[in-house]
Amino acid sequence: MAGKSRVLVIGGTGCIGKFIVEASTKAGHPTFALVREPTLSDPAKAGIIERFKSLGVNLVQGDIYDQESLLNAINQVDVVISAVGTGQVEDQDRIVAAIKAAGNIKRFLPSEFGNDVDRVHAVEPAKTGFAMKAKIRRLVEAEGIPYTYVSSNSFAGYYLPTLSQPGAIAPPRDKVVILGDGNAKVVINREDDIGSYTIKAVDDPRTLNKILYIRPPANTYLMNELVSLWERKIGKTLERVYVPEEQVLKNIQEAVFPLDVTLSIHHSNFVKGDHTNFEIELSFGGEASELYPDVKYTTVDQYLDKIA
Ligand SMILES: NC(=O)c1ccc[n+]([C@@H]2O[C@H](COP(=O)([O-])OP(=O)(O)OC[C@H]3O[C@@H](n4cnc5c(N)ncnc54)[C@H](OP(=O)(O)O)[C@@H]3O)[C@@H](O)[C@H]2O)c1
Repeated sequence: MAGKSRVLVIGGTGCIGKFIVEASTKAGHPTFALVREPTLSDPAKAGIIERFKSLGVNLVQGDIYDQESLLNAINQVDVVISAVGTGQVEDQDRIVAAIKAAGNIKRFLPSEFGNDVDRVHAVEPAKTGFAMKAKIRRLVEAEGIPYTYVSSNSFAGYYLPTLSQPGAIAPPRDKVVILGDGNAKVVINREDDIGSYTIKAVDDPRTLNKILYIRPPANTYLMNELVSLWERKIGKTLERVYVPEEQVLKNIQEAVFPLDVTLSIHHSNFVKGDHTNFEIELSFGGEASELYPDVKYTTVDQYLDKIA
């Protein structure tokens, strides 16, 4: 383990956090997870906690709203990864303050794991959510904290089991709704691969003060191509219902929380093409599958085979 940074994950018991914790231990990093006291005895989280224990994760009791507990955890590590949920994104200024006060952290990865929030064309309410992440970026930079921002694009578990059909619980077998003209390129990655790539970046000088984009070629599809791929898997042609942008915008305005959030994120991804509508330049970032060709990621094609 010599030379491997000690990694603290805040939000490690969450949807993406647990994959990051697992990847960190598998890569040989001494791994710490800040866990809230009630969560340690929450039956719903027992499986995750037991898994962490079996992987040798150091569980540190704490809460981002308890500065002393944050400092105690941060003082034990070299790298801090935040995977807190949407409700805590704005309050990561507390993590930034603790990192600044501790003074020992050589890399901070704030909770991002989505679109590049400085390059989105979103409407409300997603716009405000992205802006909160951008605000944390500016704070990290102003404080001079070394960072990597992980732009993982979409989580496979959120998008592929229904082919992004809001409200659906199964993939489409007769009719599929496509936002816009279906010609925006989207990127969909499995969560364990996002964990692996994230951990690869923590000790990599090439990702220091840069954005790590997880945009592997085999997981980058036009929605129209994705539907065609699904049709081949199930051996059936679906009825394609296209929703023009004006109608998408109207639907967002009329939707109630949380559907309005989901639809506005989908608008950014599937209509505006915010995953891919810019080139990645060395001056601000790098692409994960190019930087780490040794990571054998699961492709969208392989994922769909499992659910067809
Ligand atoms: N690209 C995509 O498709 C996609 C999809 C979903 C999310 N995301 C992004 O991924 C990031 C993480 O979201 P998520 O859905 O994985 O989050 P999540 O499942 O809601 O998990 C949140 C984590 O934060 C922890 N937490 C909450 N309050 C805390 C506090 N006061 N102190 C310490 N820890 C606290 C939770 O701990 P407990 O276990 O104690 O509750 C949990 O571990 C977000 O930035 C989100 O926007 C991206």
